[in-house]
Amino acid sequence: MVMYNIIDKKKKGGELTREETEYFINGYVNGGIPDYQVSALLMAIYYKGMSDTELLNLTDIMAKSGDMADLSGIDGIKVDKHSTGGVGDKTTIAVAPIVAACGGKVAKMSGRGLGFTGGTIDKLESIPGFKTSIPKEKFFDIVNNAGLSVIGQSGEIAPADKKLYALRDVTATVDSIPLIAASIMSKKLAAGSDKIVLDVTTGTGAFMKNIDDAITLAQKMVVIGEGAGRNTVAYITNMDVPLGIATGNNIEVIEAIETLKGNGPDDFTEICRNFSAAMLNLAGKGSIEECALMADQAIKNNSALDKLAEMTRMQGGDDRYIYDTSLFDKAPYSYQWISSSDMYITQMDTEQCGKTAVMLGAGREVKDSRIDFTAGIKFYKKTGDYVKTGDIIAELYSSNKEKLDTASRYIKNAYKTGSSRPEKQKTIIAYITKDKVIKY
Ligand code: URA
Repeated sequence: MVMYNIIDKKKKGGELTREETEYFINGYVNGGIPDYQVSALLMAIYYKGMSDTELLNLTDIMAKSGDMADLSGIDGIKVDKHSTGGVGDKTTIAVAPIVAACGGKVAKMSGRGLGFTGGTIDKLESIPGFKTSIPKEKFFDIVNNAGLSVIGQSGEIAPADKKLYALRDVTATVDSIPLIAASIMSKKLAAGSDKIVLDVTTGTGAFMKNIDDAITLAQKMVVIGEGAGRNTVAYITNMDVPLGIATGNNIEVIEAIETLKGNGPDDFTEICRNFSAAMLNLAGKGSIEECALMADQAIKNNSALDKLAEMTRMQGGDDRYIYDTSLFDKAPYSYQWISSSDMYITQMDTEQCGKTAVMLGAGREVKDSRIDFTAGIKFYKKTGDYVKTGDIIAELYSSNKEKLDTASRYIKNAYKTGSSRPEKQKTIIAYITKDKVIKY
């Protein structure tokens, strides 16, 4: 096979065969095909797109370029969830315990913070003692006994994606819907769960800035999941505002715990209820409506909270923090942004909110930065809220006074205000299965 011919075929809109896709992916991973030829092919894909058959082949070959997790040692149907990224997204920390409390199995590999978005693994590590790197046997054992375990990525999951992503990043080909779909789904397929619920975020704090692109991406990912024999559904959710009130690490864990106690913010509670219901439905526990009621019950009777404590204990963490959140460290420095006039919040730049949290120490400014678990922001007022003189709009936290001072100026650029009430924001925008798109 000749790489030149593969590039030329795609450039003219042709459909790549499985053999051609295997040739370029395997050749790139083992170093036989140079960056410049793969870059040219990526750009051709960017402009010409991919058929569903090409996309399924590409994703499968990328998934199989590394370890394929075998979760057969865990009894029952394993359900995964994945978000395309957001600010304030602590969903896994609340949803996995709800699902486990209702009899589902969640054996989840999560990521660390990336750019302006946070990562579940960093958040969980803000619980003292919580280990996110544990042997496979122990991981299986915890899921078999407690129904849930969340760990960092182990082994080599989809190395082809790692290499391709780095190349896309410098060749302006990240924002290609088929390439994003294959990238995310290759890792999900390699992670081994039987059923998948996707959260495709859209808005100022998301990859997909508009709803139509988010729906197209979600549909492609559902096609890939279903084509690979894993039932997959997707939600489109609003990332024009941070999710919930808290963005950071231990303050997000506290918010997830409060939600499991029934005291969560409305938007985050709505997301948790819907995602838990979808995961339980895929696990065969009942209709979506029945599963949503089961999720409500797991919050009411504290069984979901107990599941979070059980996972924490089994992964070496101190479960007293789950029942008494006042034990968590607090940032030594804080700043309250207080409104000096009456107005509406008309718009938020969620990416800027995330970047401000990183600036405070909640994320990594360089690869090896140490995370400040106490750093972050509470957004007491978000788009659509009316603010009166003297109200706190947001509160910022850090262990570093200088960072706090800089961030407290920066956060103000993330908000737009005005005198007229903006349109009400939806939290969940659409629900997508293999044969329907329901818009909310
Ligand atoms: N997240 C991924 O894992 N891959 C992409 O291409 C984009 C977002």
